Amino acid sequence: MSKKTVLTGITTSGTPHIGNYLGAIKPAIEASQNDAYQSFFFLADYHALIKCHDPARVAQSSREIAATWLALGLDTDKATFYRQTDIPQITELTWILTCMTSKGLMNRAHAYKASVDANREAGNQDLDDGITMGLFSYPVLMAADILMFNADIVPVGKDQIQHIEMARDVAGRFNHNYEPLFSLPEAQVDETTQLIPGLDGRKMSKSYDNTIPLFCSSDQLRKLINLIVTDIKAPGEPKDPDNSTLFQLYNLFANEQESRAMRQRYLEGIAWGDAKKELFEFLDNQLAQPRARYNELMNDLGTVEAVLQKGAEKARAVSEPFMDKVRIATGIRPLNYVPIVAEAKQETKEKSAEDVARADEGRRRAILMQLTPVFKRIDAAADKAKEAAVVLVEKAEEVEQLKKKAKQKAQNELDILKDELAKFF
Ligand code: TRP
Repeated sequence: MSKKTVLTGITTSGTPHIGNYLGAIKPAIEASQNDAYQSFFFLADYHALIKCHDPARVAQSSREIAATWLALGLDTDKATFYRQTDIPQITELTWILTCMTSKGLMNRAHAYKASVDANREAGNQDLDDGITMGLFSYPVLMAADILMFNADIVPVGKDQIQHIEMARDVAGRFNHNYEPLFSLPEAQVDETTQLIPGLDGRKMSKSYDNTIPLFCSSDQLRKLINLIVTDIKAPGEPKDPDNSTLFQLYNLFANEQESRAMRQRYLEGIAWGDAKKELFEFLDNQLAQPRARYNELMNDLGTVEAVLQKGAEKARAVSEPFMDKVRIATGIRPLNYVPIVAEAKQETKEKSAEDVARADEGRRRAILMQLTPVFKRIDAAADKAKEAAVVLVEKAEEVEQLKKKAKQKAQNELDILKDELAKFF
């Protein structure tokens, strides 16, 4: 049984936070350890340009996200780990897919619609104000990311499900119109990691500015955890663990036993101050080792770059030949390209014809020379096809009237004439 392909990417526009870790990186690394899958993980740096026009931030985010995957123990011998922009075939495929994507489908994309809605609410006359073509056609770039490696499973957050559906749509259209080259990907959404709360209790997200950077310093981690919003219940009063951001974060890092014990302490009325301290110590302890590794890697970016280059080579070993197939399917081909099936046939034909041709080559050329006036005559005629037909009839009559030897000579001429003219008429 062939392995299923798992693929996911992270946009390089921010600093990896606990939500990215629990929701995307951790499950992806776990999947990559399972031999039933082959995995492709990448830095989506072209995606970063859609929403972030600050070059320093894009560059820094790429460093941080790359180092994060490695610090968390991604085995890059097993998984293919690369940077999107090192795979030029992805942008080439984007164009081909763009030509297979109806504009109406893109009009319905959530990210684009949200921007249009924001303009409408702001009373803006131009509903497309501030919207780039990058944002508008972003689902096509994402489809190319996915289809380039024929991913079967794409672990994503809920907000990305629509993009996977669009990728299926576009793949289906290509497969139908050209050749069935693409597998149809499926989104994989892990419900338990959909609701990782941030400092204010809303979903942890860059856009809410409520994140906890995964590898911030111990001090910063303590400070941030102290900012987590709680209710006003006094020490000793029972707390509801299921409605507590502190508990939920603890829970996401804890094993079952740890989780059960902490739940009990909430029910018994742990003070919020202690709950914060417990959470800090627990996270700090779990993150200490990968954090140290992360800091090492951030001080040794040459090593990280080399890992990415190696990954890009592995990825291109897949994308280059596949992109050739895709291009050829669309008719973008070398001028002398012959489809494989026909090519095989042609080869056998050429072989037997080759011997004959070699023996006949000189003779044939000589006869063609003799026929030059006839070709000129056809060429000069107003109706060339008709003149060609007349010439053939005349030559056939001549053959009939000649004696044996001369007849053979004329017959040869007739054959070659037929051959030659058949190419044109
Ligand atoms: N758009 C995704 C996000 O914002 C990131 C991404 C880009 C991605 N290309 C991808 C995810 C391909 C999965 C597969 O989260």
